[in-house]
Order: sequence, then structure tokens, then C-alpha cells
Amino acid sequence: MMREKWIGGVLLLLVGIFTDVQGAFIGINIGTDVSDLPSETDTVALLKAHQITHVRLYNADAHMLKALSNSGIEVMVGITNEEVLSVGESSSAAAAWINKNVAAYLPSTNITAIAVGSEVITSIPHAAPVLVDAMNYLHKALVASNLNFQVKVSTPQSMDIIPKPFPPSTATFNYSWGPTIYRILQFIKNTNSYYMLNAYPYYGYTSGDGIFPLDYALFRPLPSVKQIVDPNTVFHYNSMFDAMVDATYYSIEDFNFSGISVVVTETGWPWFGGSKEPDANTGNAQTYTNNLIRRVLNDSGPPSQPKLPISTYIYELFNEDKRPGPVSEKNWGVMYTNGSAVYPLSLSDSSQITGNSSGVFCTAKANADPDKLQDGINWACGQGGANCTPIQRGQRCYLPDTIVNHASYAYNDYYQKMKSAGGTCDFDDTATISAVDPSYGACKFSGSSNSSKFTGLTPASVAPSTAVGGWSSNLQVSNLQYLIPAAFLALLLL
Ligand SMILES: *[C@@H]1O[C@H](CO)[C@@H](O)[C@H](O)[C@H]1NC(C)=O
Ligand SMILES: *[C@@H]1O[C@H](CO)[C@@H](O)[C@H](O)[C@H]1NC(C)=O
Ligand SMILES: *[C@@H]1O[C@H](CO)[C@@H](O)[C@H](O)[C@H]1NC(C)=O
Ligand SMILES: *[C@@H]1O[C@H](CO)[C@@H](O)[C@H](O)[C@H]1NC(C)=O
Ligand SMILES: *[C@@H]1O[C@H](CO)[C@@H](O)[C@H](O)[C@H]1NC(C)=O
Ligand SMILES: *[C@@H]1O[C@H](CO)[C@@H](O)[C@H](O)[C@H]1NC(C)=O
Ligand SMILES: *[C@@H]1O[C@H](CO)[C@@H](O)[C@H](O)[C@H]1NC(C)=O
Repeated sequence: MMREKWIGGVLLLLVGIFTDVQGAFIGINIGTDVSDLPSETDTVALLKAHQITHVRLYNADAHMLKALSNSGIEVMVGITNEEVLSVGESSSAAAAWINKNVAAYLPSTNITAIAVGSEVITSIPHAAPVLVDAMNYLHKALVASNLNFQVKVSTPQSMDIIPKPFPPSTATFNYSWGPTIYRILQFIKNTNSYYMLNAYPYYGYTSGDGIFPLDYALFRPLPSVKQIVDPNTVFHYNSMFDAMVDATYYSIEDFNFSGISVVVTETGWPWFGGSKEPDANTGNAQTYTNNLIRRVLNDSGPPSQPKLPISTYIYELFNEDKRPGPVSEKNWGVMYTNGSAVYPLSLSDSSQITGNSSGVFCTAKANADPDKLQDGINWACGQGGANCTPIQRGQRCYLPDTIVNHASYAYNDYYQKMKSAGGTCDFDDTATISAVDPSYGACKFSGSSNSSKFTGLTPASVAPSTAVGGWSSNLQVSNLQYLIPAAFLALLLL
């Protein structure tokens, strides 16, 4: 995320004019401003346990690169903003950097990209003039080592360099930075690299003063009267994430470049924030992250580039509690340092997705009015005929003892029993359809099956875990399914 400012993103596609389009992947960022950072070997064990195939580092830490060797994980290394100036100074400084931090680890550590700086244009504008020099010197050093086909060079940029991202079709880069951006695009084009985008709907939403609905930021279906449409292209935008990626494609096109793909190097949602950051909460973070993964792994591109998948790195693995800034800034991690997931999520490979899924769950909206949720529980457990025994005190789904958890259990039980008879997942607009199995630990939601190959993670607060080699692993088999909810499909057909 913006390591120094807000908003950012992405991944590399071997998309090309000459090659077949590859599927999108989900990777993860590993920031290290963490007070109790696990050892590098433990971190890699955790990545492997969760079948994470791509990581981005913010530096080129020797211990981490060594630990990643022969792991099968693809690695994007980083040049810190502090290093950009020195690497941009001379080709020999760049060559030394490549030798020490890249060539020394290949091929056992599969380094495939170098992210030069982090949102340099917006966070350290005075370094912008040397940014492209640094990129050029690095690329030349790779060519000299015959590594330029293995390792791509690019530079992650914030969405802030696109002042008006909506409507996407009229988005342009800020012309004040035109010469630098032009050189970056030219470099990317000439070296067959890709554009790295840090894209944060969280900031787009929270700074938008209510212009855009939360559901739009969270990839939730929008009512037909509230569809977000680009008036020029008449493309429907199902999510702010798609709109941000498309705004980037249109901005690139405005500079007369084509054939450059966008990889999202950072996106995510904070799960905890200060008193003035109510949108940073676990419910939203869980919804955002799981819907993001599902959206990316469906392999489609944004509306203007439907065939270009949007590979994406989630921000981020662990909470970086040592980072300065608001409370939310320290709470983007999806896992605790003990290896437990902060909220249930499934990070899996596109190869695991089948077009045929049956797992649709009905869960309570995390931000719903508690009184309405109580009414919903009363109805589901009474007239609705749901089996609510598991959410009684002392039973397996009682904890966490929250109204949202209890409502989710009751709503889902009702829905699974009644959907074939026309039962709906609405409950006065406090419920939502989800493809993510909400089961955790011993609490199995109706409709869940444990026979699938998908790997689900369960939240630390509720699931018992077993220690594996010093790590507490909460791996659990569940049937995370990638089904587009029917309501969502219906909207698309409008
Ligand atoms: C490294 O990653 C590239 C790109 O996905 C892949 O083609 C290659 O096989 C990987 N190399 C190793 C040694 O795993
Ligand atoms: C474009 O960038 C310049 C230089 O940073 C800044 O002063 C200006 O406000 C930006 N324009 C917009 C529309 O954001
Ligand atoms: C793109 O090409 C058009 C038409 O040739 C030209 O008017 C415009 O200035 C170019 N844009 C940039 C940013 O160079
Ligand atoms: C994939 O996601 C996009 C964006 O939400 C959507 O437009 C498209 O219909 C989805 N494709 C499939 C096959 O589900
Ligand atoms: C998908 O579901 C249909 C209908 O249930 C079934 O006939 C088909 O074999 C399934 N396809 C796969 C790939 O599982
Ligand atoms: C699925 O769960 C049931 C009941 O909890 C258990 O008996 C069964 O062994 C599980 N199956 C698998 C494949 O784990
Ligand atoms: C992992 O750490 C979190 C946060 O400190 C804690 O809530 C959770 O119980 C821990 N999990 C285990 C298995 O120790």
C-alpha cells in the first residue's frame, strides 16, 4: 500500500501478443515492520502451508531469499525508496545491486521481478527524475547477466497519479508527471515488462464522502437502480477494484501506449482501525479479501480489457505494528505471526477453480443493524424452522458470541433448508449471499462439505489449532466454492 501514501497495486502477465494468456494468480506482500516477526524459515513454511505461490518483498533480505530457495514460490524483490537514488546514480551501482541481490540467488530462489521503489512519484517526488535511470541501469545489468528474460523490472505506482479515476474512460495520469510517466511506460514497453499498480478501494471508499456505496468497494452485488456505469462506454463496473484497474488502462492508452498489462502489486483492507475509522473492521476485511480472490481467480480482465487477467498481490501477510500513521495502517495483515488466520480466507490457485460449484452460503452483513439482526435470528429460529441449537451457550457455534455470528448461522441454516422451496437470503437486507464457507473449527455451517480439495483458513479467535513444528496451523479442509451468486449473475444480465 502506499508504503508512504495511500493507494497502490500488481502482477505480471505473460500476456502477450505472442504468447497465450496465462491465468491470474494471487500473491501476497510481506512487509517486515513487525515487532515479533517470525523467522524466515517459519514464514516460508507458513506460505507453503497455505499454498501461496507468489510473494513480493519490499527489500532483498538475504535470509528471506535464502529461505525461499527451492520453495516453488515466485519472488518479486524490492528496491527501497532510499536505495533508488543510489542505484539511479550509476550503472555500476545497479550492476552491484543485481549481483548481490538477484544473481546470487538464482536459480534456486525464483526471482521473477524487481519492484523499483514504492510509489516513488507520489511519496518521494524529488527522486522521480532518477527513477527511470535506475530502472534502465538495472535492466542493462540483467541483460549483461543474461537474466533479462527471467527477471522483469517495473515500479509500483499509487492510484494518486490518476487524479480522476472515474469514469475510467476519461481517466488520465496527472500531466504534471507526464515526462516521468511517459519514460516509465516506454521502459515497460521496450523491456516487455508490466505496469505495477497499488489499488486501494478502501481509500477510494473512505475518501469518497459517500459517493460510492460500500458494497461497490467490497465487490458485493449492487441493486439494479444503483449500478455504476461509465457513461461513455456504458460498461458496468461491478467493483471499484475493476474501475481502478480500468482507469489505469485508459490512462496508459491516453499516453498512446498499448499492449502493456497491469498487475496489482498491492490491494487489501484493514481489519482494525481507530475510532474515526469505522470501515476498518474484520467483517469488511474478510468480505473484501475473499471476494477479491474470487474475482481475480475468475481470470477475466476489467471491462475494457476482458481478456487480460488481473494478477494481484494482497496487502499483506502480517500486521506491521511498527508502521507509523493511523491505527488502520498497522492492521492490514491476514495472518497473525503465530500463523493463525485473522479471519477466514482461502488463498488458492486458479487451477483449483472449477466452473461447477454448489457452495452458496447466506451470512449476516457485518455492518447490519443489531436490532434487525436480532429480529432476523428470532424469525429464522422460530417460524423459519432453522436449527439454532449450535448457537446456544456452550454449543459448538456459540463462540464468538456475537450477534453477527449467530445471525449468520441461523440465516444460513434456514437458507440451506428452504432455498429450493423459494427461501431467500434477505432478512430485511441484513443478509448476503457468499461463496465462502463460513465454517470454522468444530462449527460447521449447513451446506458445508469437508470433501473438497479447497483449503480454508479459520480465524484464530475461534478455532482450536494444532502446533506444527512450532507453528500453530489452522489449516482446515472446507468447501470454499467459487460460485458467482445467482443474484450477481442476474444483475450482469440486466
Ligand atoms: C520460476 O517462475 C517462472 C515463471 O512462472 C517459471 O516459468 C519457472 O518454471 C520457475 N522456475 C523454477 C525453478 O521454479
Ligand atoms: C498533479 O500533480 C501536481 C504535482 O504534484 C499537483 O500539484 C497537482 O495538484 C496534481 N493535480 C491533480 C489534479 O491532482
Ligand atoms: C497521443 O497521440 C495523440 C495523437 O497523435 C496526440 O495528440 C497526443 O498528444 C498524444 N499523447 C501524449 C500524452 O503524448
Ligand atoms: C469475473 O468477474 C468479472 C468482474 O466482476 C465479471 O464481470 C465476470 O462476469 C466474471 N466472470 C465469470 C466467468 O464469472
Ligand atoms: C458440472 O455439473 C453438471 C451438472 O450437475 C455435471 O453434469 C457436470 O459433469 C459437471 N462438470 C464438472 C466438470 O464437474
Ligand atoms: C467429514 O466430516 C465428517 C464428520 O465430521 C467425518 O466423519 C469425515 O471423516 C470427514 N471427511 C473427510 C474427508 O475429512
Ligand atoms: C495467535 O495470535 C492471535 C493474536 O495474538 C491470538 O488471538 C490467537 O489466539 C493465537 N493463536 C494461537 C493458536 O495461539
